[in-house]
Amino acid sequence: MSTRTDYTVGQKVVHWLMAILITLDLFVAQKLGGVMEDWDRLESRADHGSLGTIVAVLFVIRLVLRWRHGAPPLPASMPDWQRSLARWGHTLLYFFIGFLIVSGLATAMNATAPIALFGAFDITLGQTATDTFDMLRPVHEFATNAVIALIVIHLAAALYHHFVARDDSTRRMLQTWKST
Ligand code: HEM
Repeated sequence: MSTRTDYTVGQKVVHWLMAILITLDLFVAQKLGGVMEDWDRLESRADHGSLGTIVAVLFVIRLVLRWRHGAPPLPASMPDWQRSLARWGHTLLYFFIGFLIVSGLATAMNATAPIALFGAFDITLGQTATDTFDMLRPVHEFATNAVIALIVIHLAAALYHHFVARDDSTRRMLQTWKST
């Protein structure tokens, strides 16, 4: 059983940076599902991939911080079924964010036109046929939808804890600048 009562400031900062950047990247990516001019698609892929790569680095930092510092216990007032749902929800969020990043990287690497991350590093493997890209893209789209669904559930749970259960689990994540 953990003796900690809060996340570290570093864990909270990474949490919010990831939340902001994933939302931003979703906005950049939402037009990729439609019809686009070639130049626009290639530029948007590079912007989207660059942001996604920053999310990937933050995700690795997040895993290291979680492994080193753990997580504070869930509120004592929480019934067992909610504890179990919270653990599943968090585990699935970690899993699908990891899957989203890996599937995005794999999709980008198999594109047939260059994708220059940060305008400098072409991530593609030089494929000339689109088969692998066409196979991986829907996998990445599925991972996106799973992450969106889990984020909606995560937000609903945070609101529930703040306004209905009135425990301090949401407040301690909102108070990013301090760790109790
Ligand atoms: C932050 C996490 C990410 C999110 C939320 C995300 C989301 C999306 C979405 C919504 C699409 C469009 C799917 C559709 O509607 O058809 C997409 C496409 C794509 N993503 Fe990501 N993605 C992420 C990470 C990445 C990463 C890390 C890379 C590669 C470095 C990447 C590369 C791509 C590529 C190559 C496409 C296909 C673009 C196209 O069809 O022209 N994504 N992504």
